[in-house]
Amino acid sequence: MSVLIDADRWEELLEHRTGVFLGARSGHVASAVKRRMAQHGIDSDEAYWELLHGPDAGLEWSMLVDELVVKDTRFFRHRASFEFVRSHILKRLAANSAMRDYAIWSLGCSTGEEAWSLAMVANDCSKDSDGQMRYSVLGTDVSIRAVSECRKGVYGAQQLAQMTPDERTLYFSQVGRHRRVVDELRSRVAFNVGNVIELSSEGLKYDLIFCQNLLVYFRKWRRRRVLDAMVSRLKPEGLLIIGPGEMTKWNHPLLEYVGQGEVAAYQKIK
Ligand SMILES: C[S@@+](CC[C@H](N)C(=O)[O-])C[C@H]1O[C@@H](n2cnc3c(N)ncnc32)[C@H](O)[C@@H]1O
Repeated sequence: MSVLIDADRWEELLEHRTGVFLGARSGHVASAVKRRMAQHGIDSDEAYWELLHGPDAGLEWSMLVDELVVKDTRFFRHRASFEFVRSHILKRLAANSAMRDYAIWSLGCSTGEEAWSLAMVANDCSKDSDGQMRYSVLGTDVSIRAVSECRKGVYGAQQLAQMTPDERTLYFSQVGRHRRVVDELRSRVAFNVGNVIELSSEGLKYDLIFCQNLLVYFRKWRRRRVLDAMVSRLKPEGLLIIGPGEMTKWNHPLLEYVGQGEVAAYQKIK
């Protein structure tokens, strides 16, 4: 018996809670809902809707979100953006050799590759400053399952394909058929579950906020709102990097566009 899904209302719920608007991919939403319903042996989407709005909905909601969001990622996904970060940190170190701390936030970090790549860049820069610069990286994602993969920091050969041999040797140890991120980076990197549409303008401030391939799933008005919140979480002179083409014709009175080529970078004014 085929199960009827009111795809529109599930899409609205997903967008309301995560900001993600899948639009043309509504078939994906219906399939994910059906898979979760099958897990529970439920055959009406009304009953599943009630489950998701009931007192024990938290865990089930996170299982559904995990099925719905697109978690595609790679180490050094947009290499030019990472190299931009490297030269930015080195420039700041050259201008201020007393710079001691550098705080990085990878928002929508999926299974961690982006956050670990940023840690590798910051670690290289720290070595260039004779270890005087301490850095920290926080990776945040709405998917509980993705964050638990981030914390493991263990990846298969295929996931490391885009890295140079030097990066692989320096930053991973071999564990069976997999590679594990070295402790030198682990002590500097943490992950948490969080929702960018609930981003508060209050809280810790960062030298770099890196958010790629997430805003693209949001409607334009929401991208602007989330970006405004990010700006308030940047330190003076802090850098915001988003994905190429993710937000065109956007500016902010506290930011200067400093991007080059495809790198979409903004620096907060002092
Ligand atoms: C396509 S991946 C991008 C991963 C990485 N930033 C990259 O560029 O390779 C998008 C990630 O954003 C996360 N995401 C979606 N909506 C979110 C939200 N409202 N808050 C936090 N993370 C979210 C998804 O769970 C997914 O892991």
